[in-house]
Amino acid sequence: LSTTEVDLTPIAAGSAVTVMWRGKPVFVRNRTPEEIKEARAVPLSELRDPQTDQARVKKDNWLVLVGVCTHLGCVPLGQKPTDPRGDYGGWFCPCHGSHYDTAGRIRKGPAPLNLAVPDYAFNGDAKITVG
Ligand code: FES
Repeated sequence: LSTTEVDLTPIAAGSAVTVMWRGKPVFVRNRTPEEIKEARAVPLSELRDPQTDQARVKKDNWLVLVGVCTHLGCVPLGQKPTDPRGDYGGWFCPCHGSHYDTAGRIRKGPAPLNLAVPDYAFNGDAKITVG
């Protein structure tokens, strides 16, 4: 399939799901107000791959990312509540220690770029189509 539909209804604030799209994991996280606030408080000058949080989302709380570390392609941890999320509360790549923030932006470790945002669109309020 070239597109993947995701039902957002069961994803509570603060939790996330992983779906597969074109053989890659895609992370869909329903961010809490604190996570959004944290992401928006960071000055662009502190970012290795400078992008505003607003430029990476279509709706404030929904963050959609390709779950592939931009260093050497491992799948970062952070999707399960029990996972380590790194120093910036987003995702942590255990392969070589890259830390991503609550916008999926690279903050520490060897990865050069932010986690990619795939093409996706909302179908109403409760569904997205990736691809
Ligand atoms: Fe993620 Fe190296 S593959 S830090």
